[in-house]
This record gives sequence, C-alpha cells and structure tokens, in this order.
Amino acid sequence: MSDNRIIDGKAFAAGLRERVAVETDRLKADHGIVPGLAAVLVGEDPASQVYVRNKNRQMVEAGMLSLGETLPEDTTQADLLAVIDKLNADPAVNGILVQLPLPSQIDPNSVIDAIDPAKDVDGFHLRNAGLLATGRDGMVPCTPLGCRMLLEDRLGDLTGLNAVIVGRSNIVGKPMAQLLLDANCTVTVAHSRTDDLPEVCREADILVVAVGRPQMIKGDWIKPGGTVIDVGINRVPGREEGKTRLVGDVDFEAAVEYAGGITPVPGGVGPMTIACLLRNTLVAACRQNGVEVLGI
Ligand code: GUN
Repeated sequence: MSDNRIIDGKAFAAGLRERVAVETDRLKADHGIVPGLAAVLVGEDPASQVYVRNKNRQMVEAGMLSLGETLPEDTTQADLLAVIDKLNADPAVNGILVQLPLPSQIDPNSVIDAIDPAKDVDGFHLRNAGLLATGRDGMVPCTPLGCRMLLEDRLGDLTGLNAVIVGRSNIVGKPMAQLLLDANCTVTVAHSRTDDLPEVCREADILVVAVGRPQMIKGDWIKPGGTVIDVGINRVPGREEGKTRLVGDVDFEAAVEYAGGITPVPGGVGPMTIACLLRNTLVAACRQNGVEVLGI
C-alpha cells in the first residue's frame, strides 16, 4: 500500500526486529550473552497458542533463546507459582511472560506480581507499573510502547498534541496515557462511560483506541488530519459465507477519509507488540548483565 495515510506497522516492526537482532549479535560476540525468554502458556486457548508460537519463532529468528513452558488447563496456582520461582532463579532466563488470559482457578495478579520485576518483559508487575507512573525507568508494556514508537516515527516530537485514548485497561489504556504524558501530550482517557464520546474523539490530534469492540469508532469521529492508532483485533464474519476476517476498533474504510495517518488491522499495531517484546527481552538481558543498551 503506497497511500501515505496508512501507517505501516508491519514494516516498522520488521525494522525494529532487525535492529534487535543486530544488537543481540553484538551482545553475543562481545559479552557471550544470549538473551532468553520463557513464555508460559497454561491451557489450550487457540488464540494464545498462536501468539506464543509466533513469539517463539520471532525470538529464534532474532538470535534469542526461546525457553517456553506449556502447562495443562487444570494447573493450580501453587504449581504455576512454583514454575515462576524456578524461572526467576534461572540465569539463562532474562524475560518471563505468562500468556493471558489464565484459567479461572488462577488469580492473574498473584502470578504477575510473583515475577522478578527485572524479568517482567510485559511490564505488568506492580513495581514496573509504579516506575512508569512516576516517570522512571522500568519495563514498559509492549503494545503501548509500540504505539508510541509508531506515533513518533510518523509525527516526530509529540509535545503539545491533544491525545485521546479510548480504553482504560492496565495492559494498554493506562500505560499508554503515561507514555503520552511523558512525551508532553495533553492526555484524555475516555471509556465506555464517557459522555459524548464522538465529540471527545473529534478533539484528538492523536486517537488511540483499545476497547475490543469491532468498528466502534466511526469516520466522522476523527479530527480531519488526525493520527489514529487502532489497537483492536476483532474476528468478525467475513463477506463470504462461512469465512471470517479481522477488523479493528475503528471503522477503517470511513476513518481513512478523515485521518492524516491511520494504522490498518491487520498490519498496524499487532506486529509491533512482539517486536517490542524482543526489544524488552534484549533490554532486560543487558540490564541484568550491566551492559549498556544501544541503538534501539
Ligand atoms: N494476552 C494478550 N495480550 C497479551 C500481552 O501483551 N501479554 C501477555 N502476557 N498476554 C497477553
């Protein structure tokens, strides 16, 4: 697609993975360190299996170790916590990721907070959330980090821009707000209870949407020339009988007529999440070994 309104996350993510691979080679050559990620999958959720398989493949392609663990659906919380303890203590493991959602017998917060914060490459641990909220260096959640990279690549300095985030999750909405505040935006966090959401969206120089509702944001909610980052990945019935297709939280066909830049689904934010996971694993390995992080 050569339309310069389209923000090509797929291409940007490929470039980021390449830079991570180069730095990983350097870490290996100069320090004998190979970054390792343990992705823990509990149960057999098909979407989670696909995500974890993709993560493992891209880790290996970037020259890293993929040290995944798959546990049965009926794993107890105590058993999962024992696995986390073992990975925390393993020096070959620089990053730990527990794929969400977890089966209902397990409390996700207890599991996340059991991960060594230095190995928490998702950036979900209380300590990392606190570091981000107070403007200090920690592990930053992958999806919002990828969104900020795409925005800075497209717009340069974000200072003074009016950013509206639709969605207030711990995984995307809240850390996205912190990252855009840190980049000197004026930030509004909107959600399902916001009054007159269309009008709030129309004020946005930057609109980030992460609500998980297919095509909820309409074309005429977009500020003309504004930049739209669509985090949603929703599977809906396809145009042909029996087929499905992926759509975002934004009505792309309509919004592209208003936006100055917009991420497509698929091929926008999605590929950035794993690329940022590789980046975070590299950063974690460098910090754990007292090596300076360069060029990413
Ligand atoms: N499930 C959906 N998104 C994510 C993510 O970013 N990290 C983890 N651990 N699980 C997820």
